[in-house]
Amino acid sequence: MTSKRMTKKTKRSPKPKMATTADRHVLYQKSVQSPEFELEFFIDRFEEHRQRKPHLMREDFCGTAFLSTEWCKLDPENKAIGVDLCQDTMDWGVQHNLIPAGEEVSSRVRLLNHDVLTVETDKVDFTCAMNFSFCTFKTRGVLRSYFENVRKGLKSDGILYLDLMGGTQTIDVIEEDREIDDEDFLYVWEQEKFNPITNEILCHIHFDFPDGSRLENAFSYDWRLWSIPELKEIALEAGFKSFHVYWEEFEEDEDSDDEYLDGTGEYSEVFEVDQQESWLAYIVIKV
Ligand SMILES: C[S@@+](CC[C@H](N)C(=O)[O-])C[C@H]1O[C@@H](n2cnc3c(N)ncnc32)[C@H](O)[C@@H]1O
Repeated sequence: MTSKRMTKKTKRSPKPKMATTADRHVLYQKSVQSPEFELEFFIDRFEEHRQRKPHLMREDFCGTAFLSTEWCKLDPENKAIGVDLCQDTMDWGVQHNLIPAGEEVSSRVRLLNHDVLTVETDKVDFTCAMNFSFCTFKTRGVLRSYFENVRKGLKSDGILYLDLMGGTQTIDVIEEDREIDDEDFLYVWEQEKFNPITNEILCHIHFDFPDGSRLENAFSYDWRLWSIPELKEIALEAGFKSFHVYWEEFEEDEDSDDEYLDGTGEYSEVFEVDQQESWLAYIVIKV
């Protein structure tokens, strides 16, 4: 009798998709945060406007406190106060940013789980609120009370730094992706809805991976898209003395036949510019 050889099929569990194992905070930090550039911008503008070096910063909407940690790494005299409503995000920042930076650095970062509208802190040299986070405030009254609270927490020569996105494309429903240097994932920015009656905008960040998987809605933002003149009026109403807009300088791409202009990464103060499809401005608001 011939024996039937039984072959056992080993069932291999499928390799987990990259999107399921990715850490959204790591991807976010790599995609949309540039602490080196931003901190240099804060220091240069502070020295230009105030003729001294800043050492104490407050990072509103600090999230993972990436910027605060990098600020304290820059100079042993630097200290940071990070404020955010989300304890889980700040806990992630403690594990992945503060602890790896070492005790000497992390002891100079203080994290407060608080609403930026009401938080009370020591008076700081400057406060920053990056990646358009203040757009979470949807009415003039609430934005003014935020600016008033920031002003209360600034020294007499303090500065508030904001960034703002805009351009003709910002009011469109779009999805666009961008490669990130030395990384194999794509950063995807989606503007799902824009309501011209209220200027409310609903946006999402997704991440696409080479195995075809997507980390969908890694972050979602329900914002009001403020304009620069509105911000200026509200900041002055809140008691700030002056408001300055910094715009990226452009140069012609010599290898290109069309009139395409390349951003240089250098920002200078502007008073009139041509509208663009999309822009990112830095705003300096002085006490
Ligand atoms: C767009 S993320 C900004 C993260 C980081 N600052 C950056 O530059 O990329 C917005 C953060 O603001 C926080 N947030 C939203 N409303 C807030 C409020 N009223 N007070 C404090 N934090 C708030 C959220 O928890 C979230 O971590």
